[in-house]
Amino acid sequence: MSVGEVLAARRTCRSFTSDPLPSGLIDDLVDRARRTPTAGNCQGVEFLVLDDPGDVAAFWDTTLPQDRRSSFPWPGMLEVPALVLPFGLPERYLDRYREPDKAGSGLGNDAGDWSVPHWLTDAAFAAMAFQLLVVEAGLACCFFGLFGNEAAVRGRFDVPDTARAPGVVAVGYPDPEGDRPSGSAGRQRRPRDEVLHRGCW
Ligand SMILES: Cc1cc2nc3c(=O)[nH]c(=O)nc-3n(C[C@H](O)[C@H](O)[C@H](O)COP(=O)(O)O)c2cc1C
Repeated sequence: MSVGEVLAARRTCRSFTSDPLPSGLIDDLVDRARRTPTAGNCQGVEFLVLDDPGDVAAFWDTTLPQDRRSSFPWPGMLEVPALVLPFGLPERYLDRYREPDKAGSGLGNDAGDWSVPHWLTDAAFAAMAFQLLVVEAGLACCFFGLFGNEAAVRGRFDVPDTARAPGVVAVGYPDPEGDRPSGSAGRQRRPRDEVLHRGCW
């Protein structure tokens, strides 16, 4: 598949079978997803991979308490065999931007000085590349936000306190029987000319 074909084929999947993934596949896709650009080439994104059933269950226990499960609209999400969380590490960016060729930016002292936190940008880039590779591999995925659960997930899986994740990629084999459209799925793609501003807005 070409990049364009993969982009066109990708849709969010919210129901998976519990079939395990081929051994080594996630590691290979993560490794290839790391080819995305990073600010200052500091490569400050690291990946929490949860592909052991106990770890996946621990993620859901942390983010979706049992008493909310019966009303959760996408039970097929809970079957997913793997979750991948790209975390951007601010310290790596601060360290890099204190190096001589970047020190003039003044961004090496305080993460709060960054108008755009590049660790989140880079983590999101990696997440997108990873999703495209997942689709190319014939699997399905869902990117979803951590909302208020980011700190709890960090704590549960010993992620450094300062690490930031733009979201989570769930990866597995689609279960079309269990899928149901989200409230967002019916929204039409906006016309190109509505979103493309040439020359001025
Ligand atoms: C930043 C971001 C956060 C998202 N969060 C959720 C989420 O919490 N739950 C969910 O089911 N889908 C989530 N999605 C998936 C979007 O709903 C989905 O990409 C959008 O409706 C377009 O559908 P498509 O991916 O099938 O093209 C998220 C996507 C993005 C980019």
